[in-house]
Amino acid sequence: MTDEKTLVDALRGLGCNAAVWGHAELSHRDPGFDERNFGASALVRPADTAAVAALVKFCADNNVSLVPQGGRTGLTGAATSHVGQIICDLGAMNRIEEIDPFARVAIVQAGTTLATLQNAALADGLDPGIDLAARGSCTIGGMVSTNAGGIMAFRNGTMRHRILGLEAVLPDGRIFSDLTRVLKTSAGYDLKHLFVGAEGTLGIVTRVAMRLDPVAGASATALVGINDAAAAQRLVRHFLGQTGTSLRAAEIMWRGFAVAMNKMLGFAPGQLPLDAPCLLVLELGADTVDAATTALEEGLAALWEEAGIVDGLVATSLQQARAIWRLREETELIERIHKLPPSFDVSVPGGNLDAYVCAIEAGLKSIDPSYAPYVFGHLADGNLHISINCDGPLPHDRHLAIEDVLYVGLAESGGSFSAEHGVGLDKREAYERHVDPVKRELASAIKALLDPRDLLNPGKIFSPSV
Ligand code: MLT
Ligand code: ZN
Repeated sequence: MTDEKTLVDALRGLGCNAAVWGHAELSHRDPGFDERNFGASALVRPADTAAVAALVKFCADNNVSLVPQGGRTGLTGAATSHVGQIICDLGAMNRIEEIDPFARVAIVQAGTTLATLQNAALADGLDPGIDLAARGSCTIGGMVSTNAGGIMAFRNGTMRHRILGLEAVLPDGRIFSDLTRVLKTSAGYDLKHLFVGAEGTLGIVTRVAMRLDPVAGASATALVGINDAAAAQRLVRHFLGQTGTSLRAAEIMWRGFAVAMNKMLGFAPGQLPLDAPCLLVLELGADTVDAATTALEEGLAALWEEAGIVDGLVATSLQQARAIWRLREETELIERIHKLPPSFDVSVPGGNLDAYVCAIEAGLKSIDPSYAPYVFGHLADGNLHISINCDGPLPHDRHLAIEDVLYVGLAESGGSFSAEHGVGLDKREAYERHVDPVKRELASAIKALLDPRDLLNPGKIFSPSV
């Protein structure tokens, strides 16, 4: 059924609780972070799980493939679609069905944005324990599907550790229902984890039970100039070990990234201390702003010499704290300097960050002397984001040469070529080259078992030949 009008008419005739748009309507709308997201022939916005199941059954009966989409903030092309496909947009399933403040659990529909859940939980002094820059748009279902990590993963784990249960529609239209609300369940295979990080290839996540944690009443933010990641880790160790406060963020930026961001943001010269090889954003939670600010100031003063702190400021206003966070989080500004810069997202095992960054800087220069990567990321769990200072996409050989520099030895040392952005379309070759073959074989067998006709998000994670 490739004719768009026939397809759209048939979808509208399904009579399920869903809105349907044709390709023409899609072309006027914002495709999100990836221009390729809206290539499909139609988009369906189901209002409930039954409507998702009806849509999936329709696709199975008509041999049409389906691409699930949440907030369209993905960075590896996992939500991209093409003519002949249908998008299943979870955006209308955006209700928080329940927050239980005593059990500290939220039951949320998959299209709920992270910020919506954060704000709702805050009313009860709680927090989903996970946070990332795209909080205003990214959805809980999308975060499950990419096993999102973000800023607080170093203390609370990734999405896999934040969910208690989930519901998903399987490729044959059956509903997998495991909305467990308890932490402890040891009742056979814990199959919900199959859907975490599966990028919509095994089922469409429709509802999620999330853990919530008590949140500190106030926080303070600092920007610290240091010589290297080892010094930053020294500071992190100090604040992690403190009682009465909780370290909520430890984000690192190498100078090239921070200077470029500062320029794009148009901050006045000297507004932020940028004159150090590395910058560290620290956020400390405590009962009051004063307590958090004092603990940050005292901790930094105590470690000033030992950690070789070059410069630093503790924000004295919300506005200043926001400016610090904008420097770190508005990463899409790099795309105004370079068109589609080749970007990577690696996990480097503890302690090796300085050696890793030195090695990749040298390796990249040996490919092209003009290469100077923008490096930033989540210091405390070793997750670095790296963008190359050139326009993309690059010729295939050049891209592979860069990947060789960035990924060499990572898997062997216990790291990962994909920390939190998934595999999608763009990292499929890296998946084949850097993931253990037995693990890949099992993954393909699970995909074939659950989705033998390759109807759910085909071509993502696995290359088409698999
Ligand atoms: C971040 O940490 O800012 C996100 O993972 C997004 C990015 O890599 O740009
Ligand atoms: Zn990140």
